[in-house]
Amino acid sequence: MASDAPDAPNPREPRPARTGTLRHDTVPMRLYHEAKRLGAWDPRSLDLRRDVDDWTRFTVAERDMLLRLTVLFQAAEESMTRDLLPLVMAVVREDHLEEQLFLTTFLADEAKHTEFFRRVLDEICRQSGDLQRYQTPSFRRLFAEQLPDAMHRLLADPSPAAQAEALVTYSLVGEGVLGDAGYHIFSTALARGDSMPGFREGLKYSQADEDRHMAYGLFLLSRLVAEAPEVWSAVSRRMEELLPLTLGIVSEFFEAYEPMPFGLSLDDTVQDAIARFANRWAALEGAREQGHALAGAVGTERTIRDLLGWVGAELQPAPIEVRREGSSPVYTFQIGPAGAAALLITQEVLAQHMSTDVIAALRAHRVPERLRAGGRTRLTCLSARGKIIVQPPE
Ligand SMILES: [Fe+2]
Ligand SMILES: [Fe+2]
Repeated sequence: MASDAPDAPNPREPRPARTGTLRHDTVPMRLYHEAKRLGAWDPRSLDLRRDVDDWTRFTVAERDMLLRLTVLFQAAEESMTRDLLPLVMAVVREDHLEEQLFLTTFLADEAKHTEFFRRVLDEICRQSGDLQRYQTPSFRRLFAEQLPDAMHRLLADPSPAAQAEALVTYSLVGEGVLGDAGYHIFSTALARGDSMPGFREGLKYSQADEDRHMAYGLFLLSRLVAEAPEVWSAVSRRMEELLPLTLGIVSEFFEAYEPMPFGLSLDDTVQDAIARFANRWAALEGAREQGHALAGAVGTERTIRDLLGWVGAELQPAPIEVRREGSSPVYTFQIGPAGAAALLITQEVLAQHMSTDVIAALRAHRVPERLRAGGRTRLTCLSARGKIIVQPPE
């Protein structure tokens, strides 16, 4: 495809450093600050001693499946560490300093994920040899061909459409659909009891890192679409091209087992990953319709997790539960037993705003105090014209 890149500055020409201040309220800067606070974990510091014992208690098939998934994660993280740089360079050429700062944390995160899964293979699974046999044909096509091709193409063609296609491959498909499917399998497999504490801790950290990466991926995609409307057709075409390959990777993973260990099912795994993907796609379409980049961190699941933590801490000891009827646009945070107080938040709020902003809005409207007052209080929080609106007190 011919390059339709805006006149990018020649990277060889010296450019004066920017003299303006950093825009701390932008999505990339908020993610950058979050990465410094929450992303500072060390794969080497995880205590894996109990995991080594727990590993021997799994059945042969269970061990094989956990090993297979860990091998695939390790290989995927390695590709993602190696192939991110061309995107960083494309962003640098366009002089988005805030995004460059965030991308330094992104790249360091991917390096840590590679290290983490390698450590699990070496120390828990005790497999230090070549594990390529676990890489199926579809997996290889994505991580050894499609992903490096899409990323390296940016070195010659950093056009908005090429950046968007790279992001669909890296972020929506690699970190998104496949990452989600993988974490779903890990969390189902390791949900029993309290086994594998060190491994689970590392998975929790790396999944939180991925949430930030996907939030940035969606932000950048929506920025590119807003800047050049023709990018949208490149995004949907690329998504359509990659979806069969992506689902092929998931089904090839499951083909090796009959019955499935841990009560896992292909259908559940695919449905879970597709539902999360649909949320992100809806947020992207919403931003496209409004013609501007996504204002928030966009990660419904992550925002729900953050809100649950905050509401739980504010209203303890009352138990908090989140419910959503089918594909209803409203999530209900039920405080205490059914029929007691509840906070209703629309899907749009959760998909389009950072959890810190949602929490700030709820706090400003004294939502915890009003919910604590008891009775059958119902409070609503919705989003209009990109702003969070909390039901005012009567
Ligand atoms: Fe990663
Ligand atoms: Fe990532």
